[in-house]
Amino acid sequence: MSVAKKEYKRITVKTLVDMKANGEKISMLTAYDYTMAKIVDGAGIDVILVGDSASNVMAGHETTLPITLDQMIYHASSVIRAAHRSLVVVDLPFGSYQSDPKEALRSAIRIMKESGGHSVKLEGGKEVKESIKRILNAGIPVMGHLGLTPQSIYKFGTYTVRAKEEQEAEQLLEDAKMLERIGCFAIVLEKIPADLAKQVAESVSIPIIGIGAGPHVDGQVLVLHDMLGMTHEFNPRFLRRYLHMYDEMTKAISNYVDDVKSQDFPNESEQY
Ligand code: KIV
Repeated sequence: MSVAKKEYKRITVKTLVDMKANGEKISMLTAYDYTMAKIVDGAGIDVILVGDSASNVMAGHETTLPITLDQMIYHASSVIRAAHRSLVVVDLPFGSYQSDPKEALRSAIRIMKESGGHSVKLEGGKEVKESIKRILNAGIPVMGHLGLTPQSIYKFGTYTVRAKEEQEAEQLLEDAKMLERIGCFAIVLEKIPADLAKQVAESVSIPIIGIGAGPHVDGQVLVLHDMLGMTHEFNPRFLRRYLHMYDEMTKAISNYVDDVKSQDFPNESEQY
């Protein structure tokens, strides 16, 4: 279904809150480098997330844990140079905010100063409340992240759907309300039942952005390399692939190899 896109000069955290109030869905994708971010921004995405999923798709790690603050700043500063319209949210990586609120603030300030990012995202509920308050008090917008929180993979043991049990669902709802109360501008809900995500979205006035959280939320986020089909071995139910770039790129590169070997490339018009 094609929907007329509203023109915005620059998306801000306030634009997102207004979008929710007006019933306009929010589009969000990850990006980690200048060239991809330029395409994503130019295509009209509202929010670019410099996700710590860079650890997986850019660096090839099994989890998001190894990526460092310096590496996140490098990715974010490349994205920022390309983003003229989108709001850029940068993940605080594992180990940069968990030990105490002062460390969390220092890390968030480094991201804002050294990358030029517009806001930060961090995972967790009540256990990171004081850190989030500290960051917010410094004037840095914060996006929360609840449900499946990949930085805690070794605590969960699996990447399966979270908050299926009543107690965890209640805690998640409580955490979402707390994040709104202390001043977060939006929350990502990852891999939770659609009915629970709906309940959360209806219980808070800040935007809820889902990934594997069903359609009754205020926006959707996907990892760029997954939705473009560059990663072909990752096949969760929530993922819709808009391209099959793994196959397309393999074909193109293999054609190039053939052309070089057969001396078809370069031809007369491709030389000086
Ligand atoms: O790092 C990331 O890409 C994320 C999304 C999955 C929301 O946090």
